[in-house]
Amino acid sequence: MEMALLGLGTYELQGKECTELVKKALNLGYTHIDTAHAYENHRDIAKAIAGKDRSSLFITSKFFLDFVDDSKIDKSIEESCDLALKELKTNYLDLYLIHWPNRNRPLEEILKSMQKLVANGKIRHAGVSNYTIHHLQDALDVGLKIYANQVEFHPYLNQEDLLQFCNENGIKLIAYRPFGKGDLLKEEPKFNAIGKKYNKTGGQIVLRWLVQKGIAVIPKTTSISHLKENMAIFDFELKHEDMKLIDSLNKNKRYCDTEWSEFNY
Ligand SMILES: NC(=O)c1ccc[n+]([C@@H]2O[C@H](COP(=O)([O-])OP(=O)(O)OC[C@H]3O[C@@H](n4cnc5c(N)ncnc54)[C@H](OP(=O)(O)O)[C@@H]3O)[C@@H](O)[C@H]2O)c1
Repeated sequence: MEMALLGLGTYELQGKECTELVKKALNLGYTHIDTAHAYENHRDIAKAIAGKDRSSLFITSKFFLDFVDDSKIDKSIEESCDLALKELKTNYLDLYLIHWPNRNRPLEEILKSMQKLVANGKIRHAGVSNYTIHHLQDALDVGLKIYANQVEFHPYLNQEDLLQFCNENGIKLIAYRPFGKGDLLKEEPKFNAIGKKYNKTGGQIVLRWLVQKGIAVIPKTTSISHLKENMAIFDFELKHEDMKLIDSLNKNKRYCDTEWSEFNY
């Protein structure tokens, strides 16, 4: 199973609500599910995917470098992966990501340990999240392959340089927080205005803008109608002039920042 351009984010989804939502998504045809150790919902997702044909799914999880002991990198990354596999009740992850970069940690050794997980079949692909061009270049400089970089990306944070760098280096870009946790859709009236021309909602316009650039996207929702709406973006195409108009809305605005982010690197 290759990574579908549209996936389901699961941050802040837990318990029965998470299980039921993911089940509904799978029934609607979602195949790509995004989770992380930090979301504490692996077990809830396990209940939703139980009995499904595993090969028809693409499951991503992410680990924090805080859980990696520099004196035994291979062992701690493998233990972290084993925990994800146990909690998700699966034999492999399709994609395992370093959740946030930390330049004080040994990137080369960490990525090499992740490649060992690929070699022994515990993960299909190794990737990163929240990496800037410079972080990615550091990995490329030591000859390490990165499958994907998951970053915040939407019309108010149109990271064109990062997209171009990823495209040139065969790294898939995955857009997280595409709706700015809902706030972007409330702040920007142009999405609905453009949507009227295509008989689509503002949310669908944002998602279509992303997938039309070849970017995978993982919106999260707690609503069945939004689950359906977010999927219905493959039956129309934004005209060049509308793509350009949305491109021009960039404000370099982040809805996700942390005290440990390294976005200025
Ligand atoms: N790698 C990282 O560091 C990182 C960081 C942040 C997020 N992520 C991933 O990215 C996923 C998505 O980001 P997010 O959950 O932070 O925020 P998001 O997807 O940008 O926004 C979710 C919000 O948008 C609303 N929404 C969803 N579909 C909608 C629609 N069609 N129309 C109007 N509103 C809609 C939802 O409300 P309803 O529930 O009412 O639909 C919810 O309040 C996360 O769940 C997580 O998997 C990764």
